Amino acid sequence: MHERSRSPWRLLASLLAMLATAPFSSMAWSNGREAKRATEAKALGEVLAGNEELSTYYSLIKQNPDILLQLPHSGGVTLIAPSNEAFNKSHVFDLTDSALVTSLLQYHILPLSVNVSSLEPGPTYLFPTLLTSSAYTNVTKGQNILTSRQHDDTAVITSGLGTRSTILEPPFQDIPFTGGFIQVVDTLLVPPSRLETTARDAYKDLTSFLGALFKSGLAPDLSSQRDITILAPRNAAFQSISSALDPLSKEDLATVLKYHIIPDKVLSSSDLSSLANSTGSSLATLLGSDDKASKVTVSKAGNNIFFNSAQLLQSDVLLANGVIHIIDNVLNPDEFAETPDLEAKSQTPVFQVSKGAETRTGTRVPAPFTTWLPCTTDCPEPTVEANTQRTATTTGRNGVNSQSSSGMGAQVTAAAAILGAVGMGVIGLGAM
Ligand SMILES: *[C@@H]1O[C@H](CO)[C@@H](O)[C@H](O)[C@H]1NC(C)=O
Ligand SMILES: *[C@@H]1O[C@H](CO)[C@@H](O)[C@H](O)[C@H]1NC(C)=O
Ligand SMILES: *[C@@H]1O[C@H](CO)[C@@H](O)[C@H](O)[C@H]1NC(C)=O
Ligand SMILES: *[C@@H]1O[C@H](CO)[C@@H](O)[C@H](O)[C@H]1NC(C)=O
Repeated sequence: MHERSRSPWRLLASLLAMLATAPFSSMAWSNGREAKRATEAKALGEVLAGNEELSTYYSLIKQNPDILLQLPHSGGVTLIAPSNEAFNKSHVFDLTDSALVTSLLQYHILPLSVNVSSLEPGPTYLFPTLLTSSAYTNVTKGQNILTSRQHDDTAVITSGLGTRSTILEPPFQDIPFTGGFIQVVDTLLVPPSRLETTARDAYKDLTSFLGALFKSGLAPDLSSQRDITILAPRNAAFQSISSALDPLSKEDLATVLKYHIIPDKVLSSSDLSSLANSTGSSLATLLGSDDKASKVTVSKAGNNIFFNSAQLLQSDVLLANGVIHIIDNVLNPDEFAETPDLEAKSQTPVFQVSKGAETRTGTRVPAPFTTWLPCTTDCPEPTVEANTQRTATTTGRNGVNSQSSSGMGAQVTAAAAILGAVGMGVIGLGAM
């Protein structure tokens, strides 16, 4: 008995010691002073034990020592360590649920060494994490986080549903240990949610796109497809051409929407930026890769990125299965050769614009297709009749309906109420 209870501690002790001797080789984000630092840096256990701000984090690591087994032994790692206050703020998490804690900790570990002080201020960097469990993500190489150092020298990590965690300033920034760096954050990172939740709860300018996906039958299955990049037009783009899209059959609408999905690739804005400047700048979509009309051309002019003639408005919205980039117009596979007008203030839609379109965008105009969104709150009592009706529409509507009636909905609501933000507690949604 005594022997058994001691063994996890023995494992932990040897793991912490192993990290102490792990070689710390040269990394992209540090600048050649590793050798010197390695001799000065302390072992992980020593650093964590000596930091009062990190006592909750340290105790979680001690309770889940197997997490340390997964740490890469060369190339360095970055541990994103939430402060005690960060854990306090998120007490909706059940920290005794070890499967949840393991996934949460994995999402806070980068398999590379990130020294924030050496990041260039301005750009957003997409870094992979160790989170690969399909209960939480379908990003094969590990779910991502976004990191940016601002010009005022603060640094922010963005995770699921636009959650922002500030990296505490020195002495809590770039804390070296023998295996890499620890970065202390003021808010827990939230593993990105599926498209349905992301568009409905955090990026509401995407509700027309989501509704159209449901109408066409592509949602919700699209949300479980591994490694996708979505070019999602904002609501105003659908509003201005609603009279062209409304009459389309389900199949024709699906064709238009598939042209917005790049399969088998999670392309960050910096990936797009480098692709845009090389010769191979056409991207295969869900329509295929055989002919020009199934591919989208990505190009760049100054800091602006375009897909055919549509402009990238907001990049790198993280999803459970990839990333979304928000664009200003709906793409049209029949107009695949359209190029941006670089003189224009805004790009012209490539569908017939609805009559009086200038008065048909904005928040006062209903966003097209949103009636196709499945019911999630205040749903009518399910009756036999209602069920029959739902079955008659699309399988997608049923899929999400049944999920929203699970106990998770209540937990999310509780989390949102407690935190007053866009649902820290939504981590649980990944498991739905
Ligand atoms: C966390 O919460 C506990 C009790 O709610 C409190 O005693 C403690 O001071 C808090 N710690 C921090 C770092 O906010
Ligand atoms: C992190 O980067 C900064 C700026 O490049 C550098 O001055 C510092 O020494 C680096 N820290 C470590 C521990 O390597
Ligand atoms: C990942 O995909 C599988 C189906 O392949 C699905 O069951 C699971 O819910 C997905 N995970 C998430 C977080 O969406
Ligand atoms: C594109 O690449 C070329 C050569 O690599 C470089 O000279 C040029 O500045 C790049 N253009 C942009 C817009 O980044």
